[in-house]
Amino acid sequence: MSPIGIFDSGYGGLTILHGVRHLLPEYDYLYLGDNARAPYGPRSFDVVYEFTRQAVIKLFDMGCQLVILGCNTASAKALRTIQQVDLPKIDPERRVLGIIRPTAEVIGQLTKSRHVGVLATEGTIKSESYNLEIQKLYPDIVVSGVACPFWVPLVEYNEADSPGADYFVKKRIDQLMRLDPNIDAIILGCTHYPLLMPKIVKYVEPGIRIIPQGEYVAESLKNYFLRHPEMEQKCSKGGNVEYLTTENPDKFRESAQIFLHEHVDVKNITLA
Ligand code: DGL
Repeated sequence: MSPIGIFDSGYGGLTILHGVRHLLPEYDYLYLGDNARAPYGPRSFDVVYEFTRQAVIKLFDMGCQLVILGCNTASAKALRTIQQVDLPKIDPERRVLGIIRPTAEVIGQLTKSRHVGVLATEGTIKSESYNLEIQKLYPDIVVSGVACPFWVPLVEYNEADSPGADYFVKKRIDQLMRLDPNIDAIILGCTHYPLLMPKIVKYVEPGIRIIPQGEYVAESLKNYFLRHPEMEQKCSKGGNVEYLTTENPDKFRESAQIFLHEHVDVKNITLA
């Protein structure tokens, strides 16, 4: 068994898993949420890198040949070092992919005004990863970003639909639109944010496109497999999904239901 590993600090990566499974249901998946140490958003570069490295090694030990960092914060702060420094030492044949690049790649087709907004965690915004990736591909696009520190806890504590969530959602969208009123596409650069979609839609002007990542990451993986048949062949196909968490499995089961609308079996593991 060689499932595709999907890693996130907590539950957010489930929106990536959902999108990927929808397009590529034939593969096996192993999801790992580092719930005991989430959120990663406010954590330093070194800490996010170290936690992510541990998670990748765990997923490799459990048989994954390919791991997707289904977390923008980990993609922003750890992906490059893991690819360049760790992978050659651990196993140069295995692969770790992130989710910022696939999102940046599609943005060129999704904006007419060439003004794009990014809503993400503090860590992702501070890393400037979206600006850098988009600028590399589309130098004509102007990127503005706003950090939304309370959005992840709203989702994790099941408050995404509560009246209190409106205040925080509106505040950050208004802030983004004040930064650049010409924005016509907003990237939800955190995998938790699709859960706030009903509120986001309420405060974003009609005509502005809201871009969650799941379907684009799925398309990009499909494409990757076409370009890398040797990796595609290594990934087992049984349609199974397994879940691992570093926290209490009961809590994970309950929250996963909110994200996936299905009951999941989950095991506890330790990362070190
Ligand atoms: N879901 C993660 C992301 O996409 C962030 C959650 C966290 O702060 O841990 O950035």
